[in-house]
Amino acid sequence: MASDYLTGEDTTVLIFGASGDLTARKLIPALFELSRQGFLNSKSPVIGVARREKTDEQFRSELRASVLGESPDAETEAAWEQFASRVFYRRVDLGVEADYVALEKSTREIETQLGTSADRPRVVYLATAPSLFDDAVRGLDAAGMIPKERQKSDRLRVVVEKPFGTDLASAEVLNEQLNNCLTEDQIYRIDHYLGKETVQNILLFRFGNAIFEPLLNRNHVDNIQITVAESIGMEGGRGGYYDTSGALRDVLQNHVLQLLCLIGMDPPALFQAREIRDEKMKLLQALRPGNSESIDRWAIRGQYGEGLVNKQPACAYREEDRVPDKSNRETYVAMHVEIDNWRWAGVPFYLRTGKRLPQRVTEIAIQFKSPPLNLFSTVECDGDLCNLVEARPNQLVLRIQPNEAIFLRFSTKRPGMQYQVEPVAMDFEYEDHFKTHLPGAYERLLLDVIRGDSTLFTRSDELLSAWKFVDPVLDRWESGGAGLELYPAGTWGPAAADRLLSETGRRWREPTVD
Ligand code: BG6
Repeated sequence: MASDYLTGEDTTVLIFGASGDLTARKLIPALFELSRQGFLNSKSPVIGVARREKTDEQFRSELRASVLGESPDAETEAAWEQFASRVFYRRVDLGVEADYVALEKSTREIETQLGTSADRPRVVYLATAPSLFDDAVRGLDAAGMIPKERQKSDRLRVVVEKPFGTDLASAEVLNEQLNNCLTEDQIYRIDHYLGKETVQNILLFRFGNAIFEPLLNRNHVDNIQITVAESIGMEGGRGGYYDTSGALRDVLQNHVLQLLCLIGMDPPALFQAREIRDEKMKLLQALRPGNSESIDRWAIRGQYGEGLVNKQPACAYREEDRVPDKSNRETYVAMHVEIDNWRWAGVPFYLRTGKRLPQRVTEIAIQFKSPPLNLFSTVECDGDLCNLVEARPNQLVLRIQPNEAIFLRFSTKRPGMQYQVEPVAMDFEYEDHFKTHLPGAYERLLLDVIRGDSTLFTRSDELLSAWKFVDPVLDRWESGGAGLELYPAGTWGPAAADRLLSETGRRWREPTVD
């Protein structure tokens, strides 16, 4: 239960883009869960805003179907009825000023009806296409919904969904548009990866334990690999959007670089939004390509062809619904990057993400250096086949999803009369230990906005730095660049990605999810 914070407070949440997929799949379920657990009280209205004409009742019943599914239990159903009575719908054409004036009036009426305190913040969630963000904030401003006095400015918080721009220039324009009407403190740029429980644990694991942090630097670490692999393709008609985006913009520029920041940043002086984001920013400023000769030597792209994923046939990307049949959009990207600072100079960071890979898995694997002397190497023969078996380097893996876990691989002596080496793992699995459901990313992040905590949101300078880093790669690929290599669906990506590592005698870790 929510007795540790917020109980008793009330907040109005307005969702722009209420007819969209995100609202039904993520936002309403998260708000419902927060209400159910007592984090949002009965004076907290949720107002869906979109262009189509719809009654409150229609909106509620559409949401009910997608949130509760076919046969909810009685308790869930009762909780939903209670929550749904506070869900409203208002039609707004985002380009029409008068509609915002009507929205403001309506919002006040709903708040009066529910008894929402006038000094509580309103949260506006922009879940629309990014091209409408400008209209939306101008409209809010014109209707007087953005408080101007400094002391009251915190009464409006605007959450902005990704994609935040398609490159550096467009992200700068978007920032300017938002900043015309809002202060930086009022803007919450969401990256749902930061809301994942295991992602938040990266900082606690690093800075809440004394034994790991002294090892995380160039003296002990050989390389770090960050993998965000997905087995899905373009389900749900996503091909249209995806073909304007690709793996670099869709996942690497945001989720993967955020994971890199968390595993690579220095400890903040305080565990507070500004200090943490300052440290992430320093890391992004120190980010360098892993090879200075040419982009093609450190950034690799690929696209899936047909293949088998989980033993099921999968079509090629170019055969997917709404994808042009000659598309050159990348569905896979791998990079070798380095962080040019005192802690990490010379340590390769290998990043990769892609669709239609063998499994869905997100992990950070820290590979330590080999022992300086291999005292325990033995030759093991099986028939005519003999292998040299030596102690393998230690590996610390933070598995973000699925089966959230942390494990440490080390060498041990196999029982017997000889010194034979066997790699084993010590592991910690969240589910085994906590025996509880991990809160969803949107639940956590929405609650943070309601609480006014921006720690897990991306600040504008962070976001622009991330775009600045990937921009030259986008340019290179958009102007032709190195050819796009096809990989069969259900494999770990193009051969060129393996060469990124094999040139230096390294290999990608093959994640196994049991
Ligand atoms: C989204 C991307 O931001 O993240 C999707 O747009 C991707 O393409 C998704 O599938 C992955 O998120 P998760 O939480 O399923 O790992």
